[in-house]
Amino acid sequence: MNTLGLPARARYFCTVTCDADAVEALGWAAERDLAVLVLGGGSNCVFTGDVDGLVIHMGIQQRSIQGDRIEFGAGENWDAAVRFSIDQGFSGLECLALIPGSVGAAPVQNIGAYGVELCQLAPRVRVWDRHAQQSRWIDSAEAEYGYRDSLFKRDIGRFLILSVSLKLSRQAPDLPSYPDLQAELSALAAPSARDIADAVTRVRRRKLPDPAVLGNAGSFFKNPIVVIGVARELKAQYPEMPQFPHQGEVKLSAGWLIDQCGFKGAVRGSVGVSPAHALVLVHHGGGTGQDLMALAREIQRSVFERYGVQLEPEPRVI
Ligand code: FAD
Ligand code: EPU
Repeated sequence: MNTLGLPARARYFCTVTCDADAVEALGWAAERDLAVLVLGGGSNCVFTGDVDGLVIHMGIQQRSIQGDRIEFGAGENWDAAVRFSIDQGFSGLECLALIPGSVGAAPVQNIGAYGVELCQLAPRVRVWDRHAQQSRWIDSAEAEYGYRDSLFKRDIGRFLILSVSLKLSRQAPDLPSYPDLQAELSALAAPSARDIADAVTRVRRRKLPDPAVLGNAGSFFKNPIVVIGVARELKAQYPEMPQFPHQGEVKLSAGWLIDQCGFKGAVRGSVGVSPAHALVLVHHGGGTGQDLMALAREIQRSVFERYGVQLEPEPRVI
């Protein structure tokens, strides 16, 4: 139940398929003073050992259209939700096609790809708040979304996400700004949301290993963000270093940094770095989360020694 295919057992496990189930499961764990881990598709989790508590696997399926919004149950598959929105004539989600995992996890790290982040779709997230012991809606202002970040990620364990409502559009989609995608769409004068989702799907399949074939969790590190002064010094020393403006600071490319340190395609026993993308750590089978984290630390050390830049893991390490 994790796309890295790492071995881990839960002391207790259940799948919840409605709000009442979820609340009951949380109550059951509270009565026994057990830690709780909510799991969707397991595509952004690194298990370094067993889970001594209750794993609640999110299985709530629901789709309802209300005007220009669609509300999805947290257990819906994300890519299926994207395709459903397109089938219903909406645009807005096409650049986020083929991201693995569940709808409920999407707000946690404010998923993003090809210039679009979940927070741009005015998400309203219905949660069970374990502090207040009640369900409520959390809008964008309260969720404090950032790059691969949100209130749900910072205050981990407090909120169980039950459903997510997204504001979509009936207009023609915006044209993607990413050069890779523009090249893929160059033959079409006015690509539809479906054309864009299909192009995103093709580009992603070329770049990222399929977890069904090779264990991985997508990007293993966040792209580091540095202040302008640091970025200038790095550019002076390494003129070819890719840099992107990011809200008054500068985003570096973790994949490039790791690639330059020679890790692309590296193998360390049962784990390694994808030969197709230096930011994707992979598990060939038979290894453990500890093996993977040892490789992650080796990469962090190497990048820090060479560039003075600290890489931060993107997935949740458990
Ligand atoms: P899980 O791994 O199950 O959980 C992730 C975190 O969310 C955990 O902390 C978990 O406790 C919490 N969580 C899950 N569900 C709930 C809930 N209902 N309530 C409260 N907390 C919850 N991410 C991107 O942003 N962009 C990409 O382009 C991208 N590409 C990827 C490509 C590949 C090949 C892979 C394997 C991963 C990629 N990812 C990407 C990462 C991952 O797909 C996303 O983070 C996704 O949203 C995780 O969904 P999940 O259901 O698998 O979450
Ligand atoms: N690069 C290399 N070598 C590599 C890989 C990349 O030098 O092996 C350099 C290239 O210069 C390339 C640049 O890195 O142009 C950026 O690579 P890419 O376009 O693949 O994007 P990324 O920054 O590695 C981010 C997200 C992805 C998202 C893509 C597309 C993060 C941490 N990752 O990857 O999200 O799909 O952009 O928008 O922000 C994920 O979060 O799991 C994920 C896959």
